[in-house]
Amino acid sequence: MIFPPELLTIMRKCDYIAVLTGAGTSAESGVPTFRDAQTGLWAKYDPQELATPEAFTHNPQLVWDWYAWRRELVAESAPNPGHFALADMASHPARFTLITQNVDGLHQQAGNDGVLELHGSIRRIRCSQDDRIVTEWSGDPRCPDCGGWLRPDVVWFGENLPADALQFASQAARGCDIFLTIGTSGLVQPAASLPLIAAEKGAVTVEINVEDTPLSRFMDFTLHGKSGEVLPELVTAVWGNDSA
Ligand code: OAD
Repeated sequence: MIFPPELLTIMRKCDYIAVLTGAGTSAESGVPTFRDAQTGLWAKYDPQELATPEAFTHNPQLVWDWYAWRRELVAESAPNPGHFALADMASHPARFTLITQNVDGLHQQAGNDGVLELHGSIRRIRCSQDDRIVTEWSGDPRCPDCGGWLRPDVVWFGENLPADALQFASQAARGCDIFLTIGTSGLVQPAASLPLIAAEKGAVTVEINVEDTPLSRFMDFTLHGKSGEVLPELVTAVWGNDSA
């Protein structure tokens, strides 16, 4: 891909890069994006109806089974070149913050530290009653302490985001020089407002996505392509071949 030369110069000189990623970043790792995750057995369910506290109250086993299936997909997946390029990017500017809506843990697996997980982690399980993180149970997914139903430690529609992660993410959006928005449809708040906050505070904004999104028209630069291809090329174009 030919990148705008001014973008390369800005990235090379900037002190603080913040990045927001979404499900598109993991698509090339074989983790279906949230809105594509309805295949096979699960085709008849709407994720917006499964990923809610109401669905869980109504049918905890169904919601548990859906997440167990997604957890298996995640366990079988591995970071792709886009994840590794972001781990590499982190070492270049003086400051770097990676904010993700993904619950798959692939950024950490690729080597990024201090990832702000706005929507939690599918790899962690907690008790729905006492909020304790649980690592082992036998038989039914029940808390070994209180017997409450276990649930994934993710944020469902209608639930609050982890306050600390959201506060740090918002600080990053306000303080960064460049804000990259990668592989997200920009439809889910409050994550989708972070690029706009960054733009308002004067950061240079860049979107990487296979298609336009509602955020595209607010961006200084939109790069169309797969993040697993665009990101490694971008890192090499900005910082040279040692980075690839
Ligand atoms: P979506 O599934 O809504 O959007 C994925 C985005 O990635 C779309 O804009 C695609 O065009 C783009 N995309 C797909 N493949 C790509 C690739 N290889 N490279 C670059 N872009 C690609 O996922 P999110 O925006 O992450 O929340 O969804 C946000 C949140 O809504 C999720 O975290 C989840 C959800 O429903 C909760 O579970 C709370």
